[in-house]
Amino acid sequence: MTADTRPRVLVVDDDEKLLEALTRALQAMGYAVEGHPTPRAGLARARKWAPDAAIVDLKMPGMDGIELAAALQGDAPDLPVIVLTGFGTIRSAVEAMRRGVYDYLTKPFDLDEVELTLKRALEHRDLRRQNRAMSEALGGEGNPREIVGDSAVIRAMVRRVQAVAGTDSTVLVTGETGTGKELVARSIHRSGPRKDEPFVTVDCAALHDTLLESELFGHSRGAFTGAYKERAGYFEVASRGTVFLDEVGELDPGLQKKLLRVLEERTFSRIGETRVRRTRARVVAATNRDLEAEVAASRFREDLFYRLKVIAIPVPPLRARREDIPLLVRHHLPRLTRRLNRRTRSVSPDALETLQRYPWPGNVRELVNVLEHALTFHDAEVLGREHLPDAVVSRVQVQGVPGITYPELKARVLDDASREYLVALLRHHRGNVSRVAEHAGLDRRHVHRLLRRLGLDPSGYRSP
Ligand SMILES: Nc1ncnc2c1ncn2[C@@H]1O[C@H](COP(=O)(O)OP(=O)(O)OP(=O)(O)O)[C@@H](O)[C@H]1O
Ligand SMILES: [Mg+2]
Repeated sequence: MTADTRPRVLVVDDDEKLLEALTRALQAMGYAVEGHPTPRAGLARARKWAPDAAIVDLKMPGMDGIELAAALQGDAPDLPVIVLTGFGTIRSAVEAMRRGVYDYLTKPFDLDEVELTLKRALEHRDLRRQNRAMSEALGGEGNPREIVGDSAVIRAMVRRVQAVAGTDSTVLVTGETGTGKELVARSIHRSGPRKDEPFVTVDCAALHDTLLESELFGHSRGAFTGAYKERAGYFEVASRGTVFLDEVGELDPGLQKKLLRVLEERTFSRIGETRVRRTRARVVAATNRDLEAEVAASRFREDLFYRLKVIAIPVPPLRARREDIPLLVRHHLPRLTRRLNRRTRSVSPDALETLQRYPWPGNVRELVNVLEHALTFHDAEVLGREHLPDAVVSRVQVQGVPGITYPELKARVLDDASREYLVALLRHHRGNVSRVAEHAGLDRRHVHRLLRRLGLDPSGYRSP
């Protein structure tokens, strides 16, 4: 056992001189490095050594760098791979990036550039890891991309997803954290004609200003400190696919303006360039912020807001569709048991009842996490209430003693009653919000806010 915490970098290049030089340079930068002269040796070693990043030559006998990248990522999906190319045109670089390569370096490269690119790749990987840790079910087997649910609100939402999938319209997916916004965005992509094109995710909250701008739109060589070479942004990489702007509410004002231009004119420029480029990518954005309130507080451009929300898909909170909880459990349990190597085959009725009563502030993600937590600490054939985390059990009524506070109870009763009431009005007025508002004696904005909060989508009630 060693206590070596240095990031591990695998280098594969058939040019042994270069391999040795690069290996030594990277070691001097503080990395743990292993160099291998053939793709096969590199791949075999990676399986045991689990590197944090890989730098591979593009042109090698047997297997090229892009194939090697794919093979490495087959074992370790988060592994960032940087390709070395001696004849790097931007076209082959974009192609490589589209096929999952993180970045490329053109030979001869300078060591500062290597260091910077590698640092960025490792940061990128950490982010992806964090995201993955949070969004559980990317596990792999089964169909992790399926939108599970049989409640009326989910069925209406899925109908809406199918309806917009075939169009090019910009879509705004809204909803609380963990409700499945990303799932919805992917489903829009997958169900439409763009499904064989790239789906690229940009987390607008994770990166800042220049870096985010260059990720989105690319930059020319020397456009800013550290821009050693030109780089294509996601709008180019996505080609005719989908750009998913996650947490779009976090964009700063400058980028909001540039995004507006993309949505209105379909054009953009790389940082440092005046050349106007065209994009054919579709934009799907998501936010868990109340963008209307952000607009009111002058933090979000009103024109961009209206442009984004032409088609809005609200994703209902889990507590608005408790009847889906057993289905979600059935869907996620087998994949978790396989991954954690557990024998659990079912969940006891009292555990299910507890899960159905819990308010789920973190929505489906929290549900998946709770299951993972239970399975991590218990390996029972039947998962019982006693296996659920205390925090969950104690908030739910236990043997006739309510586990919630009075304000929570009030809010819950009011929510349930309001939902029932609004659904009845929506049905009666066939989704016409003005009529619903009139009927309810509220103004329209108020009704819209209520509908959003309760996860109700008026368009699901329009006449067929
Ligand atoms: N309807 C659903 N059916 C099956 N799984 C779901 C559903 N909704 C959400 N999930 C699961 O819940 C987790 C969170 O989903 P997702 O990442 O799409 O949420 P999100 O709304 O983007 O969250 P955040 O706002 O935190 O980014 C994922 O593991 C996803 O697979
Ligand atoms: Mg998300």
